[in-house]
Amino acid sequence: MKCYIATDHAGIEYKDFVIALLQNRGIEVEDLGPFSKERVDYPDYAKKCALKVAQDKDSFGILICGTGIGMSLAANKVKGIRAALCHDAYTAAMAKAHNNANILCFGQRVVGLGVVESIIDNFLNTQFEGGRHETRVEKIMQIEEE
Ligand code: RB5
Repeated sequence: MKCYIATDHAGIEYKDFVIALLQNRGIEVEDLGPFSKERVDYPDYAKKCALKVAQDKDSFGILICGTGIGMSLAANKVKGIRAALCHDAYTAAMAKAHNNANILCFGQRVVGLGVVESIIDNFLNTQFEGGRHETRVEKIMQIEEE
């Protein structure tokens, strides 16, 4: 399982913490930037990460901006992506259990690092439940094909 991570300038301060946390959980991480605190446009980084995740079925993504909203909106434009904006352990677990999200988004201006850790651990440790949720997720994925 590999993780592609990207942020914008409003999410970059959490990037190293999240990378270290993932590596500590045995997950390979590819950092897609940015690599300085200069202002950047979050859709550029959301697209970069979403394209990688869409092409690598054994991967997931993490996108961090100020709120997580812009990153999730942009990432969900890429075919095959289910990006979920999560604010706590519960939403992170549900994003996997019911929605089989393949990109996790959160906001550096919204959640503290303790909550970030619980978001990531709940996302990693929860399995997609399938069954009736599979049908619904398939319906989501068909929308982009219509
Ligand atoms: C940047 O100021 C901010 O708009 C961005 O990080 C994000 O919160 C957008 O949704």
